[in-house]
Amino acid sequence: MSAKLSVNVNKIATLRNARGGNYPNVVQVAKDCERFGAEGITVHPRPDERHITRQDVLDLEGVVSTEFNVEGYPNERFMELVLDIKPKQATLVPDPPGVLTSNAGWETKANLSLLTDLAGTFKEHDIRSAIFVDTNLENIEYAAKSGVDRIELYTGPYADNYSKDAESAIHDYVAAATLAQELGLGINAGHDLSLDNLKYFQENIPGLLEVSIGHALISDSLYYGLENTIQMYLKLLK
Ligand code: PXP
Repeated sequence: MSAKLSVNVNKIATLRNARGGNYPNVVQVAKDCERFGAEGITVHPRPDERHITRQDVLDLEGVVSTEFNVEGYPNERFMELVLDIKPKQATLVPDPPGVLTSNAGWETKANLSLLTDLAGTFKEHDIRSAIFVDTNLENIEYAAKSGVDRIELYTGPYADNYSKDAESAIHDYVAAATLAQELGLGINAGHDLSLDNLKYFQENIPGLLEVSIGHALISDSLYYGLENTIQMYLKLLK
C-alpha cells in the first residue's frame, strides 16, 4: 500500500493574498490538484488568515472530492469551523499565534487531557483525528493514550539532515513509526518533504498512510507545472 499524497494549498492562498483579488483561485487549484492525481487537499487556516481564510475552508468544503484535511491550533474558532464543516480529517498542531510555520509537535504528556477531550469530540463527529508530533517516543506513547486516530510526524528535522546523512536522518523516525504502529496509531507525515527526500522517507517508514506537502510541491510546479509535479510526487510514493 502506498502513502496518499495530500496537497497543501496554503501557498496558493499566499500568492492570491499578495494582490488582494481572487487569482489564483484556491478552490479551482484544489480541484485541479485532484484532477491531476492528488489524493487529498490540506489547508491550515491560521488565526491571522495570512494565507488560507475561514471563507476558503468553507468554500472548499463540499468541493473537495478526495480527503479534506484541515490543520490548525484547536482554539475555539478553529474547533467551531471544523465541527461545522466536518472534514475527513482534522490535524491538530500546537502553533503559538504568529508563528511563521509549524515547527514543533505536541508535548502529548503535558497536554494529555486536552488531546483526550479533543479526540473524543472528533470521534463523536465522525472526523478522523491526527496530531502533529516529533519522534520522541514518550510523545508517541501519550498520543496513543489520548485516543487520537493518527499522528503526523513532523519531518522538518528529517529534511534538514537528509542531505548530510540520510541514514541518521531517518533513524528516529523509524523508531517512532514502529512504536506508533505497535500502539495502533495511523501514521501521516509532513513538513519540508520534497522531490529529493520523499522517496527515502516513504521507503523506510513502516505503515506510512499519508504525506501532506505544500511548500516544495508548489515551488516545483513553477518549473514543471502543477500536473507534472503532482505526478512526479505520486511516482515517488508508488
Ligand atoms: N504539516 C503541517 C502540520 C504543517 O503546518 C505544514 C505547513 O503548513 C505541512 C505539513 C506542510 O509543510 P510544507 O509546506 O513544508 O510541505
